[in-house]
Amino acid sequence: MEKLAVGIGQVRRALANRNVAPVVVQKNVCPTCDGTGVELTTDEFGRTFSRSCATCGGLDRIRERAQFRAAKIPRLPERVDVAPAAARYVADFKRLTPGSNWILFSGRAGSGKTTNAAWIATEIITRYKLETRFYPAYEIVRRIATTKSATERDRLIDEAVSTPFVVLDDFLKIFPNKSSYQYSDFFEATLEIVWGRYDARRPLAITTQRDFRFVAEFDAALAGRIVESCDGRIVSFGADAKNWRLRDDP
Ligand SMILES: Nc1ncnc2c1ncn2[C@@H]1O[C@H](COP(=O)(O)OP(=O)(O)OP(=O)(O)O)[C@@H](O)[C@H]1O
Ligand SMILES: [Mg+2]
Ligand SMILES: [Zn+2]
Repeated sequence: MEKLAVGIGQVRRALANRNVAPVVVQKNVCPTCDGTGVELTTDEFGRTFSRSCATCGGLDRIRERAQFRAAKIPRLPERVDVAPAAARYVADFKRLTPGSNWILFSGRAGSGKTTNAAWIATEIITRYKLETRFYPAYEIVRRIATTKSATERDRLIDEAVSTPFVVLDDFLKIFPNKSSYQYSDFFEATLEIVWGRYDARRPLAITTQRDFRFVAEFDAALAGRIVESCDGRIVSFGADAKNWRLRDDP
């Protein structure tokens, strides 16, 4: 017969304590400040004061975590091979002129467009503390185009236009064709976001599987604004680009 791994004394103690509230071990809660971001300390004169928690980085970290939650950036791979143009964009970000502060990644599936855009969004939050939204373009456009509520529509557009930094991922990927009854609604929503940010001169990162010629044929005015705002930062992962999803791809 196997011996019980638990001694009778432990059982007795457990029974005696069974009305005691269990200790809930919460993950990621800072032990110093209990997740409040502020800790109380006593100075040399015995005065107690509160300051931003040094253990977890305090309110800044909490604010940053909240920004990440709101941004909805897709999870990055452990190690990101950052495209030089993406690294340069982030490094130069504060020096870019309003009106020429966009970046566009184009290229085929798996070439790393979303990864580079997500990396940029992450850096914009950590380095520049800017509120950020990462939108799958189809999703935001569809939501704007199909919502029944005018106030909800305005709210969505306002968020996409006025958030300090925005990524539109997979721009024009799934788009109703011109003969579809949805086409003009989708088109209008797309223009409202892109032209809204253009008029407000706010930064924008776009990824698209589309060849830029397609964008130009789709709408020349839209393409023109993208070219102007990107100011040379149209980064194309060419046909010979690695497909990261098929790792042994030559
Ligand atoms: N620069 C990179 N560094 C490290 N891993 C990468 C990089 N780019 C891509 N990957 C890996 O390959 C996968 C596919 O890349 P990603 O989603 O960025 O491609 P994509 O160009 O956006 O493709 P699609 O057009 O299908 O959306 C990622 O989930 C990631 O794991
Ligand atoms: Mg992608
Ligand atoms: Zn803390």
